[in-house]
Amino acid sequence: MISKTMQEAINEQINKELYSSYLYLSMASSFENDNLPGFAKWMHVQADEERGHGMKLYHHLVDRGGRVILMAIAAPATDWNSNLEAFKVVQAHEAAVTASINALYELALKEKDYPAQVLLQWFITEQVEEEKNAAEIVQQLELIDAHGTAVLMLDKQLGKRG
Ligand SMILES: [Fe+2]
Ligand SMILES: [Fe+2]
Repeated sequence: MISKTMQEAINEQINKELYSSYLYLSMASSFENDNLPGFAKWMHVQADEERGHGMKLYHHLVDRGGRVILMAIAAPATDWNSNLEAFKVVQAHEAAVTASINALYELALKEKDYPAQVLLQWFITEQVEEEKNAAEIVQQLELIDAHGTAVLMLDKQLGKRG
């Protein structure tokens, strides 16, 4: 059975993943408002993935006889000054989540919680991908700056995310 300390820490991480989902859903609605369906699609896929991350932790707790405690999800921002600013927020947010996953892994080491360590290794790999994706889009947006045509081309590209 999972320790109370690990259970509490995993419940906190579930809340962070669900907040991530909420944040990206808010960004999707903002892009929809700007008539950028590709950007919005990318955010919807991202939001669904984050819910999936939360559910991975949820099932881990249940499988190990732990108790899932859902906490209030903070309200995300609703507007960003530019597409670039929104993706810079994504990048910073993912870096913060990486730090949180790393801290959780440290705790799993300290607690000698081997199953949690295995699960968290998946999250550590996932965060590398998440940070890489965000950095790529930030760089592309920096290159195209305010050029409308290039923004529309990027919108098409982001819309292809499955
Ligand atoms: Fe996540
Ligand atoms: Fe993420």
